[in-house]
Amino acid sequence: MGLMKSFFSQTRKPEGLLGKMMLNGMNPGHAKLTDWGFGHLPALAPANAIDIGCGGGRNAGELLRKYPRAHVTAVDYSELSVAKARDYNRDMIAAGRCDVRQGDASNLAFPDASFDLATAFETVYFWPGLEKCFGQVFRVLKPGGIFMICNESDGTDAASKRFEGIIDGMKCYTVLQIEAALRAAGFSGISGDHHTSKPWIAVLAKK
Ligand SMILES: C[S@@+](CC[C@H](N)C(=O)[O-])C[C@H]1O[C@@H](n2cnc3c(N)ncnc32)[C@H](O)[C@@H]1O
Repeated sequence: MGLMKSFFSQTRKPEGLLGKMMLNGMNPGHAKLTDWGFGHLPALAPANAIDIGCGGGRNAGELLRKYPRAHVTAVDYSELSVAKARDYNRDMIAAGRCDVRQGDASNLAFPDASFDLATAFETVYFWPGLEKCFGQVFRVLKPGGIFMICNESDGTDAASKRFEGIIDGMKCYTVLQIEAALRAAGFSGISGDHHTSKPWIAVLAKK
C-alpha cells in the first residue's frame, strides 16, 4: 500500500503512528465544517447527547459548550480516537459531564431511548450499511430526538470520488441517499442543506 493510501485510510479507523498523525489534524481540520453543521441544530435543551464516530473529540466538546446542562457521550470504534477524545474532553469527563466509549455505530451498546440528540460528523462514509446503523441511532434516541449528519462531501464532488478510490470501504453519499436511508430507518421530519459554495451537507431527522 502506498504511503498516501495508508495515511488517508487512517480517516476510516485511526491506528498506529499514521493514525496518531491523522488524529492530530482531525480536530482543527474539521472545525469549520462542524461549526457550520452546528448552526443547523434547532433550539434544543438536550439532557443527553451522543456524538458517534467522535474522532479527536472536538465535536463532543462543542456539544458540551453549546448545551451546558447536557451530558455528552462520545463513541468511536478506534482505540486511538477514544484516547484522543478522552484527552480532549478530560476536564468535562472529570466533571462527570462527558463519557467517551469504544463502540461501533452498527451496534450501539446503549439502551433504547437514551439520547435527545445524536450527531455524526465526517463518519457515515465508513459505517457498515447506512440503514442498519441509522436504525441503531433511531433506537437509542428518545421519541422526538434529533439526529444530525454532517459531511464535507455531497457524494458528487471530485474530491469525494478521489477519496473513494483511495480509501477502501469509503462511500460518499448524496443528501438524497442519506435521506432515503433515514426514512427507511424510521426517521421523519428529514431536511437536508447544502453549503452555498462548498460540497458540505447537513441532514437532520427526527425520531
Ligand atoms: C474522518 S473521522 C471524523 C472524526 C470526527 N467526527 C470529526 O468530525 O473530526 C471518522 C471517525 O469515525 C470513526 N468511525 C468510522 N466508522 C465507525 C463505526 N462504524 N463506528 C464507530 N466509529 C466509526 C473512525 O474511527 C474515525 O475516528
